[in-house]
Amino acid sequence: MNNPLQLASPARTDRGRAAPGWPIFLRRWLAHPLRMGSIVPSSPALFRRVLRHMRAGPGEFVLELGAGTGVIGRALLAGGLAPERLVVVEIEPAMAAYLRRALPGAVVVEGDARRLPTLLPAGVAGRIGTVICGIPLVLLGFAEQERFLAAMEAAAPGRGFLLYSYCATSPLPARRHGLKARRVAWTARNFPPASLWRYDRLPEPAAGAGRRRG
Ligand SMILES: C[S@@+](CC[C@H](N)C(=O)[O-])C[C@H]1O[C@@H](n2cnc3c(N)ncnc32)[C@H](O)[C@@H]1O
Repeated sequence: MNNPLQLASPARTDRGRAAPGWPIFLRRWLAHPLRMGSIVPSSPALFRRVLRHMRAGPGEFVLELGAGTGVIGRALLAGGLAPERLVVVEIEPAMAAYLRRALPGAVVVEGDARRLPTLLPAGVAGRIGTVICGIPLVLLGFAEQERFLAAMEAAAPGRGFLLYSYCATSPLPARRHGLKARRVAWTARNFPPASLWRYDRLPEPAAGAGRRRG
């Protein structure tokens, strides 16, 4: 198990600040409601819970997919994560440009997270401690979800991932995807109320398991 990140509480570092990115968030939501998933950026209550579940060892990166207005990334940097250890991926060019200003020093990758292994800068894949996904996977069909899951597994083999969602039950059909699901946090102080899920690969069945003895 990796060391938990020793980050300062964003309750102390970000208290009382309004999410500065909501106008751009709303504009992108009007253009692509399904891609955005929510009508407003994530709340401090949600990102505080996310931060508690971040793990990264020395020299490892934190990877955020669908970073939006960078609410979670800002909290990570405010809590002490070195900016060069934060890699965020965002498909919307206007939001990627916004993220470059909002997260100085972080690695902002503009592109489609389904193509992660080809998008990430050299030296990042395979050295990722935590993947946090904000893309609304629940709105996608099974095959599309698989594409995101395969991309995350290729970038961070064996590390699983965190996914926040507004569903009370698992937003992914975990067993069908070969995953174990665990809801690790929930907050009503987000709009809509949000859950944080952790997914890990189920072990592959041992070769020959289930075969009849001859
Ligand atoms: C629910 S919003 C993230 C909210 C973010 N936590 C915030 O507070 O601003 C989902 C984000 O995922 C991005 N997104 C959707 N599909 C994507 C994809 N295939 N690759 C990368 N980003 C994607 C959207 O553009 C949007 O910014």
